[in-house]
Amino acid sequence: MNQIVARSVIRGLINGRNCSRYISPSTVAILRPFDETAEVRGPVPSGALVLFGGAQWRRMMSTASSPADTPAAAAPPTAVAEKDRNESAVAEEKKGGDVMVSSYWGISRQKITREDGTVWPWNCFMPWETYQTDVSIDLSKHHVPKTFLDKIAFRTVKILRIPTDIFFQRRYGCRAMMLETVAAVPGMVGGMLLHLRSLRKFEHSGGWIKALLEEAENERMHLMTMVELVKPKWYERLLVLTVQGVFFNAFFVLYLLSPKLAHRVVGYLEEEAIHSYTEFLKDIDSGAIENVPAPAIAIDYWRLPKDATLKDVITVIRADEAHHRDVNHFASDIHFQGKELREAPAPLGYH
Ligand SMILES: [Fe+2]
Ligand SMILES: [Fe+2]
Repeated sequence: MNQIVARSVIRGLINGRNCSRYISPSTVAILRPFDETAEVRGPVPSGALVLFGGAQWRRMMSTASSPADTPAAAAPPTAVAEKDRNESAVAEEKKGGDVMVSSYWGISRQKITREDGTVWPWNCFMPWETYQTDVSIDLSKHHVPKTFLDKIAFRTVKILRIPTDIFFQRRYGCRAMMLETVAAVPGMVGGMLLHLRSLRKFEHSGGWIKALLEEAENERMHLMTMVELVKPKWYERLLVLTVQGVFFNAFFVLYLLSPKLAHRVVGYLEEEAIHSYTEFLKDIDSGAIENVPAPAIAIDYWRLPKDATLKDVITVIRADEAHHRDVNHFASDIHFQGKELREAPAPLGYH
């Protein structure tokens, strides 16, 4: 059984089926915005509305097990329901006549547009979650290691950089993609453990759960942007699997044992990320890396101009990393002062 599972995973890696679906030209992402919404096929409950656009996520139906049996189902359609049907029909028409089944659970999304009136193409983030990065942030800030734990954190990160330098050298696209798969882990682990602590101790987190999860999501968006630009090879996918398995567990244990060391390590990792993206920008400036148009997802997420390029994208990602550096060194400093994170205001929305 284990062999079958292992064979299936390896085949998936070789075929690139997991990642390749994200790799699409920016124009495709704009013109085919809702491709990731799967069609629901199979038995349709009595009374459920068919011909419903996957894009239209708006609450419109009861969650009762059999809508046809309820008084609401027998009542004449409301204006909202009628509008939904019209929008569904339009969405279905755009899909080339494919029949899509409505959400039986009554979950739907209202039509969301960009400022210029065009349809919002993303389901993974909304316009109110986008932002303009403060690129004026000081990139040279560095926490000088003073204590024993600081020095351990600093040395650990410097040692971890050696195999990364050897493996990727100046292939900064692949390097960034790989590192973002790691960088999105600490925020999730820290946020999760603070969440559990909040539940266990019946206490507020001071906003730190949300702040750390925001960081994790921001890092994941870096990755979603990088995979638009770089297609990882099968052995790089295998490396991601291995590294994630080791790093998640190692960081989980580290955060349990010493959150101040864990945040310090992340602070130094972010300093290294700033360095890596600075080198990336140097290669773009020298022409070693082509300054291609920015992916559509990046233009929307960072509110970049429509003619933005890879250089603009890397510049805002680097600024994000500088913000993460500040947040994590700050969190570590709070612990070093013998306090809990919740005793200091969490840097929510710090970009
Ligand atoms: Fe990142
Ligand atoms: Fe980061």
